[in-house]
Amino acid sequence: MRLVFLTNIQDNEVLAKDVLDNNGIPLLTAGTEMSHSYITSLKRKGILFVYVKDDDLSDIKEDIKLKEAKQHAIETLPEAFNCIASKDYMATSKLIESIDVLVNYIEEQDNINTSLYEVMLYDDYTYIHSIDTAMMAIFLGKKLGLEGKELRELGISALLHDIGKTQIPHEIISKKSKLSDEEFELIKEHPTLGKKILEEAQCFSHKILAGVAHHHERYDGSGYPYGLRGKYISEFGRIISICDVFTAVTANRSYRSRYEPNEAYELMLSGSGTLFDPKIIEVFKRYVFIYPLGSCVRLSNSQEGYIVKQNPDFPDKPIVRILFDGKEDTESKPYEIDLSKSTNIIITSIVTGKDDELIAQ
Ligand SMILES: [Fe+2]
Repeated sequence: MRLVFLTNIQDNEVLAKDVLDNNGIPLLTAGTEMSHSYITSLKRKGILFVYVKDDDLSDIKEDIKLKEAKQHAIETLPEAFNCIASKDYMATSKLIESIDVLVNYIEEQDNINTSLYEVMLYDDYTYIHSIDTAMMAIFLGKKLGLEGKELRELGISALLHDIGKTQIPHEIISKKSKLSDEEFELIKEHPTLGKKILEEAQCFSHKILAGVAHHHERYDGSGYPYGLRGKYISEFGRIISICDVFTAVTANRSYRSRYEPNEAYELMLSGSGTLFDPKIIEVFKRYVFIYPLGSCVRLSNSQEGYIVKQNPDFPDKPIVRILFDGKEDTESKPYEIDLSKSTNIIITSIVTGKDDELIAQ
């Protein structure tokens, strides 16, 4: 399959993957032939790209286990959020079950892709954002040496990090324009409100509470609500803050445009030691792949190709399949370049079909 931006898609291309809304419900299913009206309707819903079938890239397939793990979480999370916020704690067992599914999936992964980037639709995206944040937190936690109960607690804390937002008026949470100072002050209360909700449930550990309370603290003390610095911020808080920011900036938020994966990656690295714990950013840098499989990139030698395989330890140097030799209307045999070996060639941009094509750092 190939990732194609809707600005570039052809009418008769066939979807290789379901296109989901923010509740995980398919808007269009795999196998659908694209038409002008489908493309217009997806654009209207804020979808930027889809995956389509491509014979030259048929070896790139959807990760079904990941799809199932996320699906399970999205089915249980809205109910769990509402039940816990209204002091009905029966739903916590479902939440723990979802975490087990995510942890079991992530335990098999050596690296994590920016598959987060695939989720593009969000007026009210709290649930998918929470799941993506939890997946990344579990992954980074594992690489930082956490395991067993502690890793599951980290996942629960990340999954519930924004539960305090259930106590803030929906008009403010979903406001599309810039927030007023008063509104922002109210938003800033959600970490402490979240901690309070979980405290009342009396079944969440101190570490889980600290992760929720500290997820907007920043390493240099510039965060909120407490303005804590460095190691005074709980480890869960330091991990979740990185995952929260990364998933937020790669998502299409209502009040600012989305960053492309490479821009988001650079943004995170540039925050090392100021906004974020440098030790955790080192792990992030080493193991989080930047470019999604199947996406089209332009190389420094002027060729364009598709990401077909990632290189562990070199997240910015994947294997790229070149389908065309660069000469117009001339088709060449596909071949691959391993950017971890061809060190004189780098990725310069992601081909989006938009005028403002993004330049890789
Ligand atoms: Fe938050």
